[in-house]
Amino acid sequence: MKIKTAEFVISNTDYKLGPEDGKPEYAFIGRSNVGKSSLINMLTDKKKLAKTSGTPGKTQLINHFSINDEWYIVDLPGYGYAKASKQSRAKWERFIVEYLTNRESLVTIFVLLDSRLEPQKIDLEFMNWCGEKQLPFSMVFTKIDKLSSTSLQKNLAKYKKEMVKYWDEIPPMFTTSSESKFGQEKILNYIEQLNTQIFAK
Ligand code: GTP
Ligand code: MG
Repeated sequence: MKIKTAEFVISNTDYKLGPEDGKPEYAFIGRSNVGKSSLINMLTDKKKLAKTSGTPGKTQLINHFSINDEWYIVDLPGYGYAKASKQSRAKWERFIVEYLTNRESLVTIFVLLDSRLEPQKIDLEFMNWCGEKQLPFSMVFTKIDKLSSTSLQKNLAKYKKEMVKYWDEIPPMFTTSSESKFGQEKILNYIEQLNTQIFAK
């Protein structure tokens, strides 16, 4: 898929206040600092579309970006930010959980995972929660430019081993780097495929 236009639309904490045109949307979620906003910029070839930062906790709201006037990318705040207060974490949970479970136009969730790390409890818990709620998701491994391909393969194998414990079928997996743009085409083609199915209905 070619990205012709990518524009910021609106930020919210309430899923009901997002765009109401029912166009398909794709949410990017994962631990704070895993590279959600950077991946969105990489996918759209726009360096400053989503705000990125070296400090965790940059994205605080549900952000809608309109792509080609046909579909939306949604940038979400990260989970597992150690410095966040209990109160702000509870608030996070409430509005993100509401968004993920109630937003009808949400097609699938991209769960971002740091490719340098072995399977993390918080990420496995989040993916299992998606399963319980019957929310479709893919696994997107980020920052692959930061490790050797041997270490990457090792971590991917560990993730697969962990996932088959809970899942009959392993969700789609993508490996990415926002630095080298690796993975851009595969993710965009996957979204295009899903959009085509939706628009055919
Ligand atoms: P929050 O909004 O705080 O939850 O973080 P986020 O998941 O949106 O992360 P963000 O995109 O802001 O990136 C966090 C840091 O990781 C930034 O310093 C990025 O430059 C860096 N980063 C993100 N993706 C990559 C990547 O693929 N390769 C490298 N080398 N660095 C990356
Ligand atoms: Mg962010």
